[in-house]
Amino acid sequence: MTRRLQGRRAPARRKGKIIAIDGPAGVGKSTVGHLVAERLGYDFINTGEMFRALAWKAIAAGVPVEDLRAVAALAGRLKWEFRPTPERTLKTFIDGESVAPFLRDEGVSAASSAVAANPGVRRFMCRLQRRLGAAGAIVMEGRDIGTHVFPDAEHKIYLDADVDERARRRYRQLRASGAKARLQAVREAMLKRDLNDLKRKINPLSTASDAVVLDSTHLTLHEVAEKIIRMVRRNGGR
Ligand code: C5P
Repeated sequence: MTRRLQGRRAPARRKGKIIAIDGPAGVGKSTVGHLVAERLGYDFINTGEMFRALAWKAIAAGVPVEDLRAVAALAGRLKWEFRPTPERTLKTFIDGESVAPFLRDEGVSAASSAVAANPGVRRFMCRLQRRLGAAGAIVMEGRDIGTHVFPDAEHKIYLDADVDERARRRYRQLRASGAKARLQAVREAMLKRDLNDLKRKINPLSTASDAVVLDSTHLTLHEVAEKIIRMVRRNGGR
């Protein structure tokens, strides 16, 4: 069943905690977030998928990604749904269609980075993400979840890793999915998107003052997930 989008007010009682995971591209947020959510019996959502979905839709509809008003208006016209997989990952559906097959190519990645700097789009996505997470029992990953979307999240993690390691991970992922890729090009595109995220005026990527910073360069993503699960359980989490 689709996760219900809550009304504008947060429910009086959440059914579980909100765990926010932020950090740069290719750092393993999705893998870690998915593992943590599965163990806690929470839902998981990768919010990057929402920006990617809108970028893909803009390209398909012939709306230039630099046209701020047109892209923000497009976001508002679409019917957004988030349907859980059996592993409780919420997948984005637009107008009843799964967007998953279209999101990973480099053109969509670059366009999503431009779309994410659009203030109207960010306001729209933030409202959507708050309604999606309002009931709690969710792991949400992105760039501004702990700093802006859920500043009151019970747990905030900022996940980081050395850029060469991040590029190697993303490169392996792309190759495993059958895509053609060059390591150097993947590294450059990643650095460009990081820079866009760090320097944009609205809700840039930054570390919340109360976030726990974890460096995954020399840890497996299972080890990172274990650390987070222990942290949540120490604080009385499920
Ligand atoms: O995480 P992923 O790389 O899939 O995200 C795609 C793009 O969406 C990123 O380059 C980033 O600019 C943007 N994004 C964002 N805020 C989020 C999630 C993603 O700006 N919460």
